[in-house]
This record gives sequence, structure tokens and C-alpha cells, in this order.
Amino acid sequence: MTFQNTLEFAQQLDAADQLSKYRQGFHFPQVNGRDVIYFTGNSLGLQPKRTQAYVDEVMKDWRELAVEGHFYAEKPWWDYHERLAKGMAKVVGARPKEVSVMNTLTVNLHLLMVSFYRPTAKRFKIICEEKAFPSDQYILQSQARFHGWDPKEAIVEVKKRDGEHAWRTEDIVAKINEVGDELALVLMGGVNYYNGQVLDMQAITAAGKAAGAFVGWDLAHAVGNVKLQLHDWGADFAAWCSYKYMNSGPGNASGIFVHERHLDKEDIPRFEGWWGNKKETRFLMKPEFDPIASADAWQLSNPPILSLAPYLASLELFDEVGMDALIEKQRIIVAYLEFVLHEIDKQVDSTFEIITPAERGCQLSVFLHGEGRALFDYLMKQGVITDWREPNVIRLAPAPFYCSYEDMYRFGQILKQGILNK
Ligand SMILES: Cc1ncc(COP(=O)(O)O)c(C=O)c1O
Repeated sequence: MTFQNTLEFAQQLDAADQLSKYRQGFHFPQVNGRDVIYFTGNSLGLQPKRTQAYVDEVMKDWRELAVEGHFYAEKPWWDYHERLAKGMAKVVGARPKEVSVMNTLTVNLHLLMVSFYRPTAKRFKIICEEKAFPSDQYILQSQARFHGWDPKEAIVEVKKRDGEHAWRTEDIVAKINEVGDELALVLMGGVNYYNGQVLDMQAITAAGKAAGAFVGWDLAHAVGNVKLQLHDWGADFAAWCSYKYMNSGPGNASGIFVHERHLDKEDIPRFEGWWGNKKETRFLMKPEFDPIASADAWQLSNPPILSLAPYLASLELFDEVGMDALIEKQRIIVAYLEFVLHEIDKQVDSTFEIITPAERGCQLSVFLHGEGRALFDYLMKQGVITDWREPNVIRLAPAPFYCSYEDMYRFGQILKQGILNK
């Protein structure tokens, strides 16, 4: 498709967009009396309008039924979480029994490492990407120390090559092979939060498994953004938050994946609680733990229903639209944004360097050479909600559910004004 940097062309793309009707299904913050141009779906997704009804339903059931709501609510609370399994499984490419919802992301990565980081004197190393998301770095360091290892010895970071902005799969695989039989775990971000790169999760999982290690994925920036096939890839485990592309609300619940091959192991080390016990025997209050034969066995507590309600609303929306349709629009809208950036680049003195490689989802990370924080402040004042990282990286993630092509065009015009007005 030959793009044009005009309002008419952007509006034509919107008119042809099968997903454009979903935009009205989201609440947009207002700046200067109009909807913002929202580029931070990679941080916190917008609120779907349908979410309110899901939360209201729980509030009503609680008001009118109190404790009886556990069994007699419209959607009974005692197995409410099971309603999320089918939708989550579809989004991450898993079987429903391989997923569960509980806690928050950092907590879940720790809990999953109880099962999948079991270092021995020989096999104790963890491979991750350099400059992983800080929480992941703290998880790995504290886990290594907890098991008596010096993080400097136990954690092996895969670096990018000098002068390059993205990791090469061959370098990650080579590092896995080099660490070889000392490797206990590969744990990486499936989509990197900073440069937006989608790692080759299939190849890395295969290499990690071939080396005899466990392989897990932090899918915070991947879920609801890129095609995932966790079951077929053979990953051991994964976890994700639901408040970014999944639009489930601030700080909301995390999903987990545990591959089927680990579900029937009676001796798997795991921290356990009563909600991981089979439903049939849970209320017999027996001292022996009788695990559910699914990823739900990793659940500890009875889940926070008021958190699950918005997540359920969001999953039903994803189910209706499907990842394939979202990804199809994403490819075009991100390419259009890239085109607009190149066009504006030609019209101003500053230069834009896109550091996101071709393996990408929604996000473009851009160095705005010659610009600084003042430009970011200008964009925010004009209703362009972006994310700024020092010294001058801007992260733009046009979520296909609610961003329009016209947004991309308008953003380009505002960016140009911001630079020319300096
Ligand atoms: C890649 C990645 N990992 C982990 C986290 C931590 O998430 P939480 O605060 O829900 O534990 C985030 C949060 O943005 C993230 O982007």
C-alpha cells in the first residue's frame, strides 16, 4: 500500500478499517475538549465502556447476596476465575487448563520460579536479556541470592552487539549453548519494554529446552499484542499482567501459563494455598493438599472478584475480535505511523531514529535526535499521551483496538509544530 501523509488518506484508512467501530467502545481522556491521541496502551490500556457493567454486577451481588454470592451470584465467585481461562488460553496460545489468573505479575514470576528455578551445584545459571525490566532484574537477583548464589555468578545477560539496538536470536541461542549444562533457566521478556522488539520465542524456547533448562517468559508487553503459541512452543511457564494491551485496569491481576507436561506432577515444588486445592474437596478442610490438575493449582488465595470482573470484560472483547484481526490492523497502523514519522523527519531539522527492529508489535521506540523533554511536554499539552525515557526516547504504541489512522496523521502534525515552534 502506498501511504500518504494527508488527513483525507488517513480518514480513508479509517473508513476501510473493520475494527474502527470498537473505538467508540472505549473511554478516552479529554484534553482541550477532544479525545487524546493515546500512545500508552503499552503501559495502561484505556477503559472499555462495557467494563462498568461487569464491576456493577459484582457490587450488586455483594450488596444483595453478601456471602451467598460465592455460590448464588449471577456469576458465582467461587469459580469466577474459571470464566477467564478460555479467553486467556486463546490469547496466549494455550489449553485452558494451562492458564490461571492470580496475584500480580512480579509475584507470579517469583511463585513460578519456586517451581522452575531449582538450582543445583552444577546447573544454577539463569539467562536473561541485558537491561531487562527492573522488576525482572530484582526477581532474578533475589531468587539467586535466596538459593545461596551470587547474582553476578548466576545471572548471565545476553547483550546487544556494539552499535545495535536489538538482540540477535543467534546471539541468544549461542549464549544458551555456551552456558550449556550449567543452565537452569531462561527467563526473558517476550517483547522488550524499551525497544519494542519481539524475541523469537519459539527458537529461544527450543534452544533452552535442548540445553536441558526450564524456559519461562515475561509476557507483560506481549500479551494482547503479538501472536503467542506457548503450548506448541513448549515453554515451561509464563506470566503476564493484564493492564497494558489487555485493558483490564490499573495494577490488575496477572495470568500464568504452566505447560501441560507439568500439571500432573505430584512432586513439583510449589508454594500452595487452599484455592489450588480441588474444588470438590476444598471445603472439607482437610490437612492434605489435593491439587487441581490444572494451572489453578498455583493459585493461593480466593481471587479478588472486583479485579477479575474488568479482566473478564476485556477478555470477552478480545474473544469477539480475535488476535488475528488485531494484529492485521496493528501491522498497518504501525507502518503508517512509521511512514508519518519519516515524512515529518524530512520537514524538520531534528532526526528521528526508530530503534524498534522489524520484529515488532504495537510499539515504536524512537530517538528524537536534537529534541528534549520540552517536546514531550508540548505533546502532552496538545493531548498526545506518550511515554518519554531520558534522554530523548519516545515510545509510541498505537493499540489497534482504539487508535485511528487519523490519530497518526494528527500526531505527525502536532509533532512537527512542536519542533518548529521551539
Ligand atoms: C516487562 C515487565 N515486567 C514486569 C512488570 C511488573 O509488573 P507488576 O508491577 O504488575 O508486577 C512490568 C510492568 O510494567 C513490565 O513491563
